[in-house]
Amino acid sequence: MRTRVTEQLGIKYPIVQGGMQWVGRAELASAVSNGGGLGILTALTQPSPEDLLKEIARCREMTDQPFGVNLTILPTIKPVPYEDYAQAIVDGGVKIVETAGRNPEPFLPLFKQAGITVIHKCTSIRHALKAERIGCDMVSVDGFECAGHPGEDDVTNLILLPLAARRLKVPFLASGGLGDGRGMAAALAMGADGINMGTRFMVTKEAPIHEAVKQAMVDASELDTALIYRSLRNTARVFRNGVAQQVLEIEAQPGATDFADIQPLVAGVKGRALLESGELEQGIWSAGMVVGLIDDIPSCAELIERIVNEAKSIIRDRLSTLVDDA
Ligand SMILES: Cc1cc2nc3c(=O)[nH]c(=O)nc-3n(C[C@H](O)[C@H](O)[C@H](O)COP(=O)(O)O)c2cc1C
Repeated sequence: MRTRVTEQLGIKYPIVQGGMQWVGRAELASAVSNGGGLGILTALTQPSPEDLLKEIARCREMTDQPFGVNLTILPTIKPVPYEDYAQAIVDGGVKIVETAGRNPEPFLPLFKQAGITVIHKCTSIRHALKAERIGCDMVSVDGFECAGHPGEDDVTNLILLPLAARRLKVPFLASGGLGDGRGMAAALAMGADGINMGTRFMVTKEAPIHEAVKQAMVDASELDTALIYRSLRNTARVFRNGVAQQVLEIEAQPGATDFADIQPLVAGVKGRALLESGELEQGIWSAGMVVGLIDDIPSCAELIERIVNEAKSIIRDRLSTLVDDA
């Protein structure tokens, strides 16, 4: 399978593993890259820029294939030394960066000078066009189905992807709701040059999280995610556990939501502890609607091969037979 994404990123298959806080470590990123996709480390999962440098070195020991680093630029309670993390990416010799959250423009001169390919992940066409205009090499278009922050527009990939194909010149990845070959074939049909997956890669053998979390996602249906922080206009799609339900109840109360009422339930340290301990009511974790399509825990290489083979057979054996060339 050759697309602009495989060519520009130097990878075998156009499948990317999006940055995932607490999950995007060397074990997962290297497994995805070794399987022919593009694995991505998550910069802010590392406590300091120095630790990120070490993680990059560790990942390089685990794969000789290309991998990237995600830099998520979001307002945080504790100030984050973004410039130092960006410098660590450059110093680590990484050649592909996935940016997300705020406008990545301040970091582009540094990355471009280092010859880094920048993929900006965004949830609307206007932000995708802006990313292209400021010089990003690629975009990931994250539809309403996605885990994490889908934005406030609520436009699904059936609309976003054809719009992206019509309007963008740079290659783009379809992101959100993808987990099998049908989704991949559909994304390619809608004009995407590849796919980006988060949730599906969480439920793999190599994902460095507790088995109970993976099993909960295998057991879940497409109805088992919740959109929290809507009232704060900072919507996040998370797994619908008891804690997420409690957050929704607080948000449904009359009057403006005070984040202080929610904070103890959703603290990052609790989410991190949950992923490590497998105690599913300890906090919250991001998950997308694609949990409804997940029913096993394969290795990353098995998953990638399966998705590619399924997509190929749909294109060859189904789609091509639907058109009459006679
Ligand atoms: C557990 C988890 C943590 C995530 N953390 C981040 C993050 O820190 N930064 C980011 O840009 N995206 C993050 N994402 C979003 C993914 O990179 C990706 O865009 C999204 O999962 C795509 O939707 P999907 O889950 O339906 O595949 C996270 C997703 C998950 C499942």
